[in-house]
Amino acid sequence: MNEDLDPATVAILAGRDPSESSLAPVIYPTTAFEAPTVAEARRLALDPSSSRFYSRYGNPTVAGFEDAIARLEGAESARAYGSGMGAVTGIVLGLCSSGDHIVAQKQIYGATQLVFQAVCPRFGIDVTFVDATVPGAFEAAIEPGRTMLVWAETPANPRLDLVDLAALGAIAGPVTVVDSTFATPLGVQPLSFGVDLVVHSATKGIAGHNDATIGVVAGSAELIGWLRGFALLQGAVASPYDAANALRGIRTLSARLDVQCANASAVAEALELHVAVSDVRYPGLASHPQHELAVAQMTRMGAMISFDLVGGLEAGSRFVEALDVARIATSLGGPETLVTHPASTTHVSLTEDELTAAGIGPGTIRVSVGLESERDLVGDFVGALDAL
Ligand SMILES: Cc1ncc(COP(=O)(O)O)c(C=O)c1O
Repeated sequence: MNEDLDPATVAILAGRDPSESSLAPVIYPTTAFEAPTVAEARRLALDPSSSRFYSRYGNPTVAGFEDAIARLEGAESARAYGSGMGAVTGIVLGLCSSGDHIVAQKQIYGATQLVFQAVCPRFGIDVTFVDATVPGAFEAAIEPGRTMLVWAETPANPRLDLVDLAALGAIAGPVTVVDSTFATPLGVQPLSFGVDLVVHSATKGIAGHNDATIGVVAGSAELIGWLRGFALLQGAVASPYDAANALRGIRTLSARLDVQCANASAVAEALELHVAVSDVRYPGLASHPQHELAVAQMTRMGAMISFDLVGGLEAGSRFVEALDVARIATSLGGPETLVTHPASTTHVSLTEDELTAAGIGPGTIRVSVGLESERDLVGDFVGALDAL
């Protein structure tokens, strides 16, 4: 493939080799492949990147999805997992050992936070949480020779805090990781800033239709090779059915994002004007505290918004139940506009202090803006707010 193509074109062309002349991804449901000789079976068994040996190693449909993600992220290689959390735990447990140290952003997805808070200590891995919006916070917490990973999420779930990718990419020593789920590979390319690994819950915008649960990590051939070795034992394998859906999602990602970003911008502007609302966060709004950073490092501002309701928890429940077009559900990046109350869903395991530290209040609402008409969406949100 020509190296000088726009990302929207790469999204159409990438990851086709395993499907040969079929336009749609070919689904290989097989768990195992026949080997012509014992010597060939042995060679495949010793190669964790084999995609035609045993499907816990790899699978041609999954390989097509991995190739497409690697191309979009500008990576040498990628490895798919059975979910975003499969990818997160694959990196943490695949790269860290007892006695190692991790520096992690404190504003992150609740389940990832629990891995650092509850799982890592069981394996003797220490974690220091930092406020990643403060310049130099990651660097200050690094313990040279002991810090194995620096973990960031940008834009972060749910308050859309951003991390300065150029500063993160300049960190030498530990492996730097960015969870880029909210941005998608067509919103920002963390590896181009010098970051080592980019991870996605491809369940979200990448697959984009709420019909696939799948994760992926992209980076250098060396790091991904290391992760593949551990992934074989971890077993959080991506299903070929989900990989086919995710690859189909990649084909339309650019067009979907264009509509979602325009809708999100219109909804965010309408929310900002309403008296029942405070602290609207959308990277594309001039009022976002890190708007300049968003403009500098993001090519699209994304589909995610968060805001607070002046009336707190009680207003939050009444508001989401008054919506008609937007649905109440705990995912993001799909065609339907979804509203979530993070304190009782995505971050339900956090204590009140931890919620406050992550910027999540009792009336915080997270919105994943979908593909409905802008007029209907803005009307739905303003109507539900007016009724409070
Ligand atoms: C930023 C982020 N990372 C990781 C995950 C986990 O992904 P999955 O649900 O596919 O395991 C999520 C899920 O919401 C997420 O929002």
